[in-house]
Amino acid sequence: MRIDILTVLPQLLESPFSASIMQRAQDKGHVEILVHNIRDYAANKHKNVDDYQYGGGAGMVMSIEPIAALIEKLQAERNYDAIIYMTPDGELFEQSACNQLSLLENIMILCGHYKGVDERIREKYITQEISIGSYVLSGGELAAAVVVDAVVRLIPGVLNDETSALTDSFQDGLLSPPVYTRPPEFKGMKVPEVLLSGDFAKIEVWREEQALKRTQERRPDLLE
Ligand code: ADE
Repeated sequence: MRIDILTVLPQLLESPFSASIMQRAQDKGHVEILVHNIRDYAANKHKNVDDYQYGGGAGMVMSIEPIAALIEKLQAERNYDAIIYMTPDGELFEQSACNQLSLLENIMILCGHYKGVDERIREKYITQEISIGSYVLSGGELAAAVVVDAVVRLIPGVLNDETSALTDSFQDGLLSPPVYTRPPEFKGMKVPEVLLSGDFAKIEVWREEQALKRTQERRPDLLE
């Protein structure tokens, strides 16, 4: 998979992909993540990428031209299966969307800033708009990092058995059951007996019960 991220603040995206699973996924060739600075495509003298909004009001709007120039340059090089815009008024990001995106070959992700991008960018180029939650971030970069992380870990070969995505929360519509490691007792708190029993059928039943209980308590909406 190839992921192109379009941003006015590329430095915000330096560290999220340079450690652990994301770095390994790139080293092993499962994904190529390229961060592009929109400002490099501003043709005006001052390299401005934003402007006052028509009709007045506080906050700048990201200009069409530099973004369009960058998108069209990339489109001339390859086909994109999705051109995503990160925005708080997008569709709420869920595991089902992660699963779908993980099957694609080439993705572009545009990070919004200030008041957002000129609406005509959204109309002409964007195929999908994603919000990572009902709150407003300073820009789309951290949201894009969330999406990339959630998608890349699903690409076959990125995770090994110990970190398998199949047992993640949400993959079966349920939250994950509680987990424990050594020691078997800590300040009087004991690991549930069944997990030490070695009876894997019983352990599986216990985990399913706990997953259901946790989901009922914390996310009953997932069961509807
Ligand atoms: N940009 C600002 N806030 C955002 C959010 N909640 N989701 C996606 N992009 C954003």
